[in-house]
Amino acid sequence: MLRLYRRATGARHLDIGPGTGYFLDRCGFTGPPPEITLLDLSQECLEMSAHRLARYRPRTCRANLLEPLPLPDGAFDSVAMSLVLHTVPGGWDAKGKSFAELARVLRPGGTLFGSTVLAEGVRMNALTRRLLVEQHRRGNFQNQGDGPDGLARALAAHFPFSRVVVRGNVALFRATA
Ligand SMILES: C[S@@+](CC[C@H](N)C(=O)[O-])C[C@H]1O[C@@H](n2cnc3c(N)ncnc32)[C@H](O)[C@@H]1O
Repeated sequence: MLRLYRRATGARHLDIGPGTGYFLDRCGFTGPPPEITLLDLSQECLEMSAHRLARYRPRTCRANLLEPLPLPDGAFDSVAMSLVLHTVPGGWDAKGKSFAELARVLRPGGTLFGSTVLAEGVRMNALTRRLLVEQHRRGNFQNQGDGPDGLARALAAHFPFSRVVVRGNVALFRATA
């Protein structure tokens, strides 16, 4: 995931669900300082990640990724969505609607990249399966039915180029607007 951040993060970057800001903190920008926007449903996550990334003076935006985003068309070179979609309710039809908004806010040729934990269509050992069931019971993961093919279809519906790679039971994805 960090390698994906290092390769794909652009000068005007939108991070959806930054959590603690770990990946942006570690990805090591070279060149001019990036313009970073952090978007999250949680005020606590926005404050924590903005504090960690204060050296970049990030903008923050409190919003739900499942709704129209209060951001202008074509404003970003890159959008990251790391380990977010498996925490969001609804199948790929519902989650995939967010890709339309991300395609809108990316400039033509801009990059969406991210990762999500899958629950279907991947091989899991007994321990992984038990951990997954426990995350469902606690309500932390909402990825019942999420498989790689559905993700690939949802991306292809909104981006002319997209790619999904599965590592263990995590999908890494990249798409070009
Ligand atoms: C598991 S954390 C991932 C954190 C970080 N991206 C990483 O990879 O370490 C999920 C993040 O998505 C945010 N999130 C969950 N549902 C969301 C939604 N509907 N809209 C916007 N952000 C959301 C959470 O508040 C949290 O910051």
